[in-house]
Amino acid sequence: MADNPSTSFRTGKILLSGVKPTGRPHVGNYFGAMKQFVELQHDYETYIFIADLHALTTMQNRQELEESTVGVLLDYMAIGLDPKNVTIFKQSDIPQVTELAWIFNCLTTMPYLMRAHAFKDAEAKNKEINVGLFDYPVLMAADILIQNTDVVPVGQDQKQHIEIARDIAEKFNNAYGETFKLPEPLILENVATVPGTDGRKMSKSYDNTIPLFASDEEIEKAVMGIVTDSGSEVPTNVYAIHSLFRNKNDLEVIYTENKGQYKKLKELLIDDLKNFIKPLREKRQALEEDKSAVLEVLKEGGKVARERAEKKMEKVRELVGLKLY
Ligand code: ADP
Ligand code: TRP
Repeated sequence: MADNPSTSFRTGKILLSGVKPTGRPHVGNYFGAMKQFVELQHDYETYIFIADLHALTTMQNRQELEESTVGVLLDYMAIGLDPKNVTIFKQSDIPQVTELAWIFNCLTTMPYLMRAHAFKDAEAKNKEINVGLFDYPVLMAADILIQNTDVVPVGQDQKQHIEIARDIAEKFNNAYGETFKLPEPLILENVATVPGTDGRKMSKSYDNTIPLFASDEEIEKAVMGIVTDSGSEVPTNVYAIHSLFRNKNDLEVIYTENKGQYKKLKELLIDDLKNFIKPLREKRQALEEDKSAVLEVLKEGGKVARERAEKKMEKVRELVGLKLY
């Protein structure tokens, strides 16, 4: 179980990561990010949480937040995140995190946070920046440090946030005494970019995705819509997506036998996608039918994470002078 890790996990280290509840995941998200969590759960004492408080910085609609939170939970459980190995929880079940973020706020300067990429990007785009968005990295530091995290698997875009968490840990340790471990990012470097149906990076913002839990009809429609380059014998975009599901030798045979036959090649890709997606989709549906059991996972995970966080906060409150009795 997750609370007796040192004997049962290969590295003996603590891994934590947060996922923001967003829309439907796609095949690019899966191969680029989600899959790695599932693989890492056997090597580390793993904590994965849904960053609903972070989502509030941009999502201010009750129904949308509730649905996305449950949605992302179903997504991750369907792809194999197993509550037997992993503590799965939601951020807002750990109020100690916001308490710690406040203490960190008082150690962090505005000019320092103004150097954060996410803030600078938002500012460059003239976006309206709420205080929560500005403070995003500090809340993230609290998420990480409160659980004594060793490693944080994140995409390249989040690397700076881990550096900020390390800086804040050092600041606290210097001010009040050794308390927080300095976390390491685990950047998934050699993850290839999955192309979308138009050849650009598959992305929700380009409307070129194959949803990870797509129905058979959606798969057919997406694949038939893949843009192919006329004239060449191998449809590059079809091949690139196909290579996620088959090794080079297999593909070599298939693409040689069906040279120039785009429709046939697309049909073969459709078959592979269907075989890959069907069990995931069915698992998700089954989980969805027993929503109360799934919510129970979140609730139980919250208890475990909250107890750990409270233990840490007792020490922090004492060190900063907030604990008089
Ligand atoms: P999107 O571009 O669809 O909004 P996100 O920015 O939410 O995707 O990405 C979530 C995670 O999935 C990130 O870790 C990101 O690196 C990964 N990811 C997104 N799109 C791809 C892709 N086309 N290929 C590989 N990884 C991807
Ligand atoms: N900022 C992360 C993202 O946008 C989500 C997140 C919140 C997170 N807190 C975290 C990731 C702590 C790792 C650790 O993807």
